[in-house]
Amino acid sequence: MPSVIDGKAMIYISRDVHFCAAHKLYNEHWSKEKNEEVFGACANENWHGHNFDMTVTVKGPVDPETGFVINFKDLKKLINEEVLDKLDHKNLNLDVDFMHGKLTSVENLIVEIWKLLDPKIKEITNHRATLHSLKIKETNKNYAEYYGE
Ligand code: NI
Repeated sequence: MPSVIDGKAMIYISRDVHFCAAHKLYNEHWSKEKNEEVFGACANENWHGHNFDMTVTVKGPVDPETGFVINFKDLKKLINEEVLDKLDHKNLNLDVDFMHGKLTSVENLIVEIWKLLDPKIKEITNHRATLHSLKIKETNKNYAEYYGE
């Protein structure tokens, strides 16, 4: 059995964060009626908000010098700077550079957040740890998961 001591055990650690953001789902190539039919309340032209919950899971072996996969302090700073500062209390359609020109669905959002976090996690852990998964809940009942595939 792999153990933490020999550095072979693969550990998954997670951090939960929360952000609020406004958006509108609207395909400019469609009529207003079709947008309302497909996107429902999310097509409201004067925007609406969601309270998002996100779980960031990082995997890797334990660093024998720290006992950590990744320092939670570093992970917190990274998520704050790369994601929350850019999204929290913002309009996803208008304020967020990495969502420009994209439909602001939770699916598109999760892929863009992956692109921001994964290279930085590798960088700060010297490629020992990688992003394993992201989970974003848009409502209590609806959520997306992404594993970088
Ligand atoms: Ni919505």
